[in-house]
Amino acid sequence: MSARKKVQSTWGGRFSAGPAKLMLQFGESVSFDYRLWAQDIRGSKAHATMLVKAGVLKSTEAKSIHRGLDAIAKEIAAGKFKWDVALEDVHMNIESALTKRVPVAAKLHTARSRNDQVATDVRLWIKDQCADIDAAFANLLKTLVKLADANADVIMPGYTHLQRAQPVSAAHHLLAYVEMFARDRARFHAVADAANWCPLGSGAIAGTTLPIHRNVTAKLLGFVDAKGKPRVTANSMDAVADRDPATSFAFAAALCGVHLSRLAEDMILWSSAEFGFARMPDEFSTGSSLMPQKRNPDSMELLRGKAARFQASLNHLLSLTKGLPLTYNRDLQDDKPPLFDAADQLQLALAVASSTLAGTKFNKAKCLSAASDPALLATDLADWLVKKGMPFRHAHHAVGRLVGVAEKSGVPLDKLSDAAALSADKAFTKGWRDVFNLKRAFAARENIGMPGPKTVAKEIARWKKSLR
Ligand code: ARG
Repeated sequence: MSARKKVQSTWGGRFSAGPAKLMLQFGESVSFDYRLWAQDIRGSKAHATMLVKAGVLKSTEAKSIHRGLDAIAKEIAAGKFKWDVALEDVHMNIESALTKRVPVAAKLHTARSRNDQVATDVRLWIKDQCADIDAAFANLLKTLVKLADANADVIMPGYTHLQRAQPVSAAHHLLAYVEMFARDRARFHAVADAANWCPLGSGAIAGTTLPIHRNVTAKLLGFVDAKGKPRVTANSMDAVADRDPATSFAFAAALCGVHLSRLAEDMILWSSAEFGFARMPDEFSTGSSLMPQKRNPDSMELLRGKAARFQASLNHLLSLTKGLPLTYNRDLQDDKPPLFDAADQLQLALAVASSTLAGTKFNKAKCLSAASDPALLATDLADWLVKKGMPFRHAHHAVGRLVGVAEKSGVPLDKLSDAAALSADKAFTKGWRDVFNLKRAFAARENIGMPGPKTVAKEIARWKKSLR
């Protein structure tokens, strides 16, 4: 029998011919959604247990269904399961294998549709992924804090417009990334929490006439609140049409990708000869096939590039769902490739960032020499004038004139004579030159959020404690 003549076993009742080979090839999703197998089996087991309570299955029947599902899970985990694209997706592949083993499993799909099944599987998958990603964040954050701690005395210029702005410490700079990744981590907690509502029981669109117990399945699958109370979705139409869990996941990944790409860019700059601030480990650098002297920061360039891929996944999901009428439409089957890719690439990216940072060494002397340009303390000099009572806007101008004098005469700001300083503004009286002392400049910045060494040490201690 050709594929066209053979009717489809799960929904083929009203058809006289099966789908064309091309349609099967075009419509299959098992080549990617097979990754939901563990969640699909968990969902089916919970559903079978609930169906006993609903009077649809005898408990002996549910038991044989459970045994059959366990056997299939083992087969899949061992790589022995034969996935068949003619069965379209992970759900029908597993159901068909199960019914072959356990004929009574023909009752399993009672009060359930693939629409609420796939929504449930994906939410479970996202919750699992968020737990793994959380561990990856913990690792990256610990690495960053450790690196900050080890380089607390490394002074470097901070940049705006990629022009030297004011001196900071390597620790303060690294802790900025700790803040970003801690926010990303919290964002994934929120993604997991929002996914934590059970759609099972929504059926295809309008629930079921059978007396099911949604709270039971929700509880069995761990869709519960902090107190263990089951959480079920409140609207069957939203539940099967909703792809917010995947989209929120992709957004959290995309924003984290942006943060990773900014870190990558800093690392790329720092490891250039022009900066020379840091050296990445050999294991995460590469050479050139032509130029023997090259040591390229490829891991960081790839990390920077991944940001595009995360954004593409987010855009894919947003575009996929935009303008779709309620509720389920087959378009939605294609939500999985971007979701899976975002998760896979994020786990890799977090691990690479962490490993690269763990082996990164700062060049203290180079950093200090770049930060020793007295012009970086021009703002401190304006503050000095403010402390003497001058309005900041006037102080800004006075120091600006002094910078002009220094530039014109080719003398560093802190080496100008007192007479030259007075020529710029008569407020530059005794003591103006004392401002040009990095130690003093840092000590003057012991206020919350600032790079003073004591403040930074406190921050490091705070993070160490919260990351234990
Ligand atoms: N393979 C489908 C998907 O992943 C399963 C849901 C099918 N539902 C339907 N009404 N055809 O979206």
